[in-house]
Amino acid sequence: MKNQTAKHTVLSGIRATGRLHLGNYLGAVKGMLELQDQPEYRTLYMVADLHTLTTPYQVAELRQNRREVLIDYLAAGLDPEKSILFLQADVNEHAELAYYFSSVTTVAKMQHLPTFKDKVKQYPEHVTMALLNYPVLMAADILIYKADSVPVGVDQEPHIEVAREIARRMNQDYGTAFPEPQRFVTPGGYVPSLTGEGKMSKSVEGSYIRLTDTLDEIRKKVRAVPTATTAGGAMPAGVEALFTFLELLAPEQVAAFKTAFDDGSLRFSELKDAVAEAIFAEVEPIQRRRAELEANPDYVNQVIANGAEQARAIAQATIREVREKMGF
Ligand code: TYM
Repeated sequence: MKNQTAKHTVLSGIRATGRLHLGNYLGAVKGMLELQDQPEYRTLYMVADLHTLTTPYQVAELRQNRREVLIDYLAAGLDPEKSILFLQADVNEHAELAYYFSSVTTVAKMQHLPTFKDKVKQYPEHVTMALLNYPVLMAADILIYKADSVPVGVDQEPHIEVAREIARRMNQDYGTAFPEPQRFVTPGGYVPSLTGEGKMSKSVEGSYIRLTDTLDEIRKKVRAVPTATTAGGAMPAGVEALFTFLELLAPEQVAAFKTAFDDGSLRFSELKDAVAEAIFAEVEPIQRRRAELEANPDYVNQVIANGAEQARAIAQATIREVREKMGF
């Protein structure tokens, strides 16, 4: 385990709303993997199960999913020998720090965030305090470990900006020493939807590929990407999406398909099959490791228990410091 000698601390998380899709993997997990192998980065990766409460959910599903996401992490190559892997709700101090942070955050600021507005549109009957507080809890997740680097997709940038503002505010008002975290940028920061519109997202049916999809399922989904050409020679969004996948997963094949597109000889079915195969080549080893982990629940339990213990020790030290500085 990398320790006190590391110069930087990294924290990231994924909500426990279901199994991971290719957008989570390329946008977040790839960056998480890259940083865990660098000795100068101490890496902490959590399952954001408390954040699951910000939208409607089923208790039984949450109970299952918080564990499934951790298994997905392990299957993708996150390694408890290199990173602290844990469940957010196992470390009570996150919620406590979020409460302190809420006292330096205005309601108006939270209401203006694009992510908040999107969720209000999506669940107009479920605009809760927890939803409004989403970015404050996320700031607590990051700053409780004094993390300065956060591997997440582009969509999370406004939340990291909130974490920076909270860090500044706390340091100014209470003399704490929080860093101002930055997003760790990876090439897959924006993975497009298979519908040719917007980004790949769990909440849009038909937009995503699960890490557990078989080659047949992947082929079927990729073949359904709309590629109808429009007048003017501009690249349609669906075709652009296919090229994005190829650039991320099989960059050596891009040039030939691009030339074919430009001279009008491109057969979309060939491009689509190349994309489907490149995606499957990436997820297949993850699926194999997952099957092994599913057969070994004791190992998974052990990882969860150890991770919680390690994370708690760091979080408690920060809480002690903040409470003292805030007058408790
Ligand atoms: P969540 O579950 O919504 O998203 C998890 C991660 O996947 C990335 N992502 C994408 N990246 C590229 N293209 C896409 N189409 C795509 N879809 C999803 C997201 O950017 C994110 O990195 N708020 C976080 C969870 C969280 C967290 C934290 C993250 C809670 N506390 C502290 C970092 C640090 C989220 O959006 O989860």
